[in-house]
Amino acid sequence: MARHLLLALAFACITAGCQAHFVNFTLPNLPYSTSVFEPNIDNTTMYLHWFKHTQTYATKLNDAILTTCLGQGLALTPLSQLVQKVGATVPCGSNRCKAIRNTDCETAIRHQAGGLYNHGLFFLHTLAPTGIQNYNVKASNALRKAITSAFGSLDNFKANFTTAATGVFGSGWTWLVYTPATRKLSITTTPNQDNPIMGLYSPKSYPILGLDVWEHAYYLKYQNKRADYVAAFLGGNIINWAGVSNLYDKAVTGKYPSLNVLDLNQTTWVA
Ligand SMILES: *[C@@H]1O[C@H](CO)[C@@H](O)[C@H](O)[C@H]1NC(C)=O
Ligand SMILES: *[C@@H]1O[C@H](CO)[C@@H](O)[C@H](O)[C@H]1NC(C)=O
Ligand SMILES: *[C@@H]1O[C@H](CO)[C@@H](O)[C@H](O)[C@H]1NC(C)=O
Ligand SMILES: [Fe+2]
Repeated sequence: MARHLLLALAFACITAGCQAHFVNFTLPNLPYSTSVFEPNIDNTTMYLHWFKHTQTYATKLNDAILTTCLGQGLALTPLSQLVQKVGATVPCGSNRCKAIRNTDCETAIRHQAGGLYNHGLFFLHTLAPTGIQNYNVKASNALRKAITSAFGSLDNFKANFTTAATGVFGSGWTWLVYTPATRKLSITTTPNQDNPIMGLYSPKSYPILGLDVWEHAYYLKYQNKRADYVAAFLGGNIINWAGVSNLYDKAVTGKYPSLNVLDLNQTTWVA
């Protein structure tokens, strides 16, 4: 209903000669075939997860920007900036106000922009086809040093990550993050589609690797055995260590906050 109203307004705008611009988030093609993670993550799960679940976040985000979020100043905001506005405040007069003033809009951005951003990080930066991603070859020296310094060893990192991932209650994510305030790597988890860069979390930390532990990410193959899925992820040579190293480098050099590599394709349409 609200969408119809908006389209009518957009039409009126066209006939009246004014212009409104809206971002239209679309999914990029995956740089691999969905079957390349077999047997660790099955083809059907990978296919549905990107082309159906992730597409739904994009569609609902586009809808929210046209309806619930109309008038909130978000129509042309890049994805990474939308995500960081959730829970954030901005100066207003002598006070601070919510960066997204409308609560329903903020909730929609939290769920849909969060979902799109998290899945972009997972599919495009965390995973790479089986067999070509060897930690010792592909992870940068700087990242390997940081992992050893934070966890003692790669095996300890995996043990910590496993404890965190299996401990998420219900739906959520497990992250390897870099925190500028401590200049350290650590492991953290978020519920639902939250991300550590959201204004909800402090100190600010930047995810360089993420694992989706929603049931839609593993249930077809692993059913209730989330630990087996986590083990397949960590042990299956499917982590994009070169991509993780790149994000680590951006995070330590202060380039992550304005990083656009996680801004998925966005075209603008004009009404
Ligand atoms: C948004 O992009 C999709 C995919 O390219 C396209 O099908 C759709 O028509 C676009 N929507 C608008 C409002 O331009
Ligand atoms: C992967 O799954 C998709 C969706 O079911 C299907 O179209 C495609 O043929 C499958 N690919 C392989 C290699 O099985
Ligand atoms: C890793 O796990 C150990 C044992 O639970 C814990 O003491 C340590 O704080 C964890 N390290 C990090 C960096 O998360
Ligand atoms: Fe997911």
